[in-house]
Amino acid sequence: MTFPKSVRLVEVGPRDGLQNEPNPIDTATKLELIDRLGAAGIAYIEAASFVSPKWVPQMADHREVMTGLTRRQGVTYAALSPNLKGLEAALECGVEEVAVFGAASEAFSQKNINCSVAESLERFIPVLERAQQAGVRVRGYVSCVLGCPYEGEIAPAKVAEVSKALYEMGCYEVSLGDTIGTGTPLAAKRMIEAVSRDIPMDKLAAHFHDTYGQALANLYAVLEEGISVVDSSVAGLGGCPYAKGASGNVASEDVVYLLNGLGIETGIDLEALADTGTWITQTIGRPNRSKVGVALAAK
Ligand code: HMG
Ligand code: MG
Repeated sequence: MTFPKSVRLVEVGPRDGLQNEPNPIDTATKLELIDRLGAAGIAYIEAASFVSPKWVPQMADHREVMTGLTRRQGVTYAALSPNLKGLEAALECGVEEVAVFGAASEAFSQKNINCSVAESLERFIPVLERAQQAGVRVRGYVSCVLGCPYEGEIAPAKVAEVSKALYEMGCYEVSLGDTIGTGTPLAAKRMIEAVSRDIPMDKLAAHFHDTYGQALANLYAVLEEGISVVDSSVAGLGGCPYAKGASGNVASEDVVYLLNGLGIETGIDLEALADTGTWITQTIGRPNRSKVGVALAAK
């Protein structure tokens, strides 16, 4: 067992957590969420998504969010940008980091970004070049690493191939997305083992959705493999608009509680984070999907 000493949390609540909400959420609420997360000690917040508002209406106020947020020292505010159009807009808004997102499944790639996996990788090359010119780091996502809503099982070799392509084109970190949360710990371990043959472990992140209630178990398994970057969403908010039925990311509060118990540092104030989860779920009228958040609120 070689657990990391510290883990960096990537809070995706304001993006992955909210992107699927059917009713429009005020920009002011999004800004307050981002601010509260920063105040709780989260050092990396995915704040917005520069995608087409026709595809994801909830993220249509990406410019207002990115320019309206109050930057805290030591916090990185990032955004998704699938193409040059998105990147240029993000750069105009002073984004510090962007993320491109591909998939290990052809069918999901078509549904999510309207092109094949190979086309998406081609499309990301100029995005990376332009970002590098602007001094902006690029993170790469791979979706469907433990299963696809359209294709079912996905071979670890396919995940490794797409991850390697993203890493080689210059993504500084590759985040491995169990988009539909169907993975289980042994499968997660095998997938990480396959990907880490080509990419150093410290350049990989786990992005697990909790649809089948396996996310914490899967995280424990990949932490044992040496993963030290974890994506999560406050109150377990979220879901992908192009993965029907997929529920939110693993809850940030639950991840921090687990890591605290393992003696792994995060620098995050769990109570402040849990308060944020209670506040945002009450504000947008959603159930709090963090068990730790619910338990702390009941105290
Ligand atoms: P397309 O239709 O193939 O693109 O969509 P296009 O270049 O032909 O443009 C069509 C229209 O979109 C044009 O507007 C463009 O200007 C506009 P029109 O002339 O019709 O008025 N457009 C844009 N507008 C704003 N920002 C942009 C942009 N690009 C084009 N960046 C595209 C291709 C990628 C744009 C589209 O498919 C899209 O926006 N997809 C986004 C899907 C998405 O956001 N999914 C959720 C995020 S991924 C996720 O959740 C998974 C993850 O969490 C990991 C995991 O869990 O696995 C990351
Ligand atoms: Mg996701």
